Amino acid sequence: MWEQLAREICDKTLLVCRRSGDRIPYLTGRDGRFDDQTDRNISWWTNGFWAGQLWQVYAFTGDEDLRRTAVAIEEKLDRALLDDMGMDHDSGFKWLPTAGEDYLLTGSGDSRRRLLLAASNLAGRFNPAGEFIRAWNDREGKNAGWAIIDCLMNLPLLYRASDLTSDPRFAQVAARHAHTAVRHFLRPDGSCEHIVVFDPVSGKKLDTLAGQGMYAGSAWSRGQAWAIYGFTLSYLHTGDTAFLDAAKKAAAFFCGHIPASGLIPADFCQGPDCDFEDDSAAVIAVCGLLTLAEATDDGAYKTAAERLLSALVKHGRCDLTPDTDCLLTRCSVSYDAPVHDHPLIYADYFFTEAVLKLAGKGLVIW
Ligand code: GLY
Repeated sequence: MWEQLAREICDKTLLVCRRSGDRIPYLTGRDGRFDDQTDRNISWWTNGFWAGQLWQVYAFTGDEDLRRTAVAIEEKLDRALLDDMGMDHDSGFKWLPTAGEDYLLTGSGDSRRRLLLAASNLAGRFNPAGEFIRAWNDREGKNAGWAIIDCLMNLPLLYRASDLTSDPRFAQVAARHAHTAVRHFLRPDGSCEHIVVFDPVSGKKLDTLAGQGMYAGSAWSRGQAWAIYGFTLSYLHTGDTAFLDAAKKAAAFFCGHIPASGLIPADFCQGPDCDFEDDSAAVIAVCGLLTLAEATDDGAYKTAAERLLSALVKHGRCDLTPDTDCLLTRCSVSYDAPVHDHPLIYADYFFTEAVLKLAGKGLVIW
């Protein structure tokens, strides 16, 4: 089943690549076509995912159109490297699926330099007082003490930079941030905070915020998925079992709250009268669970991951028709977003990563 689905994803990705040129998509319009962030916001955190999908499919098919387009997008992102306010905590999301995949597959010197520049900027965001990587930027420093659960997924850029340079400092910063996430983001029941506010001078924990979840203390489903995947990756890069334990707790919470339908809500605390869904949370969790299954040799995680994917297929959430550009149809940016249940480019990326992995051909980029 996964082999067939992988082929359909690859066919559609190639078709869309050929008709979209070097667009950098985030959303899909009413006409079913991707938008383009190139001139809208070159620093947007999702700008690496389409190129990442192209690289994943390139590794599967070897079609040169995919490689050329992915490289063109990677080159466009050089403008983001010079945008001081745009260079935030999300450098891993922007440069691992672009320069990271390129370097992995071609050994490009430019890609290596991009990775190291982005990693140096990310490492420079570390606050030694609270031992966290600062989220976002603001000119007044009002959020200088903010850290977020999503940032766990940016840490592999730092682990990779240490591997590339034989300099342990990048990995040390990453591991310290991950330990802070274990201490201050993971709750006793395995659910996670989205935003934790620290005093940026003393490092003391001051508050937690709802962020993209329903309320402070709720369980934003995508944040929960970032925790499963992110803690697992920190375990794989460091061998520190504190991160493995954290990943298992986050996975137990997520799996224990999957509704009977198998479809993931925007927030696990939303009531039965709210039907906001988030396919992106589902597929990020799938990637995390598949990686956790490999890390632990526990097939139960793989079974849970396959059930989540099967639910998306069974309930018609996958669009494999040539008429549209997207692959998954019902995502939520956040619980209080003005619109819900629409495609998002990162859902498509992680869907592709998951299905190609199950088909035995996925690239490991994180
Ligand atoms: N990293 C932001 C999000 O998950 O929406």
